[in-house]
Amino acid sequence: MKNIKLEKQKSTLIITINRPDKLNALNVDLINELSEVFSVHREDKSISSIIVTGAGDKSFVAGADIKEMSAFSQSEAASYSNRGIELFNNIESYSKPVIAAINGYALGGGLELALSCHIRYISKTAIIGLPEVSLGLIPGFGGTQRLKNIVGLGIAIEMITSAKHIDSEEAIRIGLANKVCHNVLEDSLFLSEKISKNSPLAIKLAIQSIVSGENA
Ligand code: COA
Repeated sequence: MKNIKLEKQKSTLIITINRPDKLNALNVDLINELSEVFSVHREDKSISSIIVTGAGDKSFVAGADIKEMSAFSQSEAASYSNRGIELFNNIESYSKPVIAAINGYALGGGLELALSCHIRYISKTAIIGLPEVSLGLIPGFGGTQRLKNIVGLGIAIEMITSAKHIDSEEAIRIGLANKVCHNVLEDSLFLSEKISKNSPLAIKLAIQSIVSGENA
């Protein structure tokens, strides 16, 4: 894989998005690689949870790749958008807990990726936001709905229409992140270790029930 690194620590799969020189922006190849990894490991019994993080010390994912996107034809744009929606729906409904270890900028599609994960741990210095309207776009990977479901209508509309960046303290205050961490990967691994001690089948059914809003 060209744009992601995979590492297994005990039963946790760590997916590191690896384009640090572009602040890990999501290009087409990266979305395809993530889709493949999540599909391949969906029923992998040797993995109890997944951590998604960004390479380098600056960024989780700084959004969709603006440069690549600006050259898209209409059909390429539609295909990119559909692939992203499919991937993020797959993550949200995943059979194992998926933790976003937000280690820096999580903007636009980067925050949408984190919103599709089940748990968000955030480093103290991270900056997050959905600034799409400042580029004449709207969050296109399901982020409008997911943000509203997590923080409520008013805050979602304020964040999206103002395109503002928020810090980790505010992310916690509005319920967008579970925990502010000194070392976000270490804390995510500690949580994964706890998860790994519990029944995989019960976890899968519990996630299904929580995400769908229906009893399993
Ligand atoms: N798409 C493509 N490339 C991106 C990117 C994105 N979303 N975000 C950052 N990059 C690239 C920059 O173009 C630059 O590449 P270059 O060195 O080849 O010119 C590199 O990453 C470093 O970014 P830079 O802007 O120099 O870093 P910074 O510390 O000054 O600013 C940000 C960091 C995150 C504030 C700024 O990069 C930014 O605003 N990015 C766009 C965020 C955004 O609007 N995302 C939503 C897209 S829908």
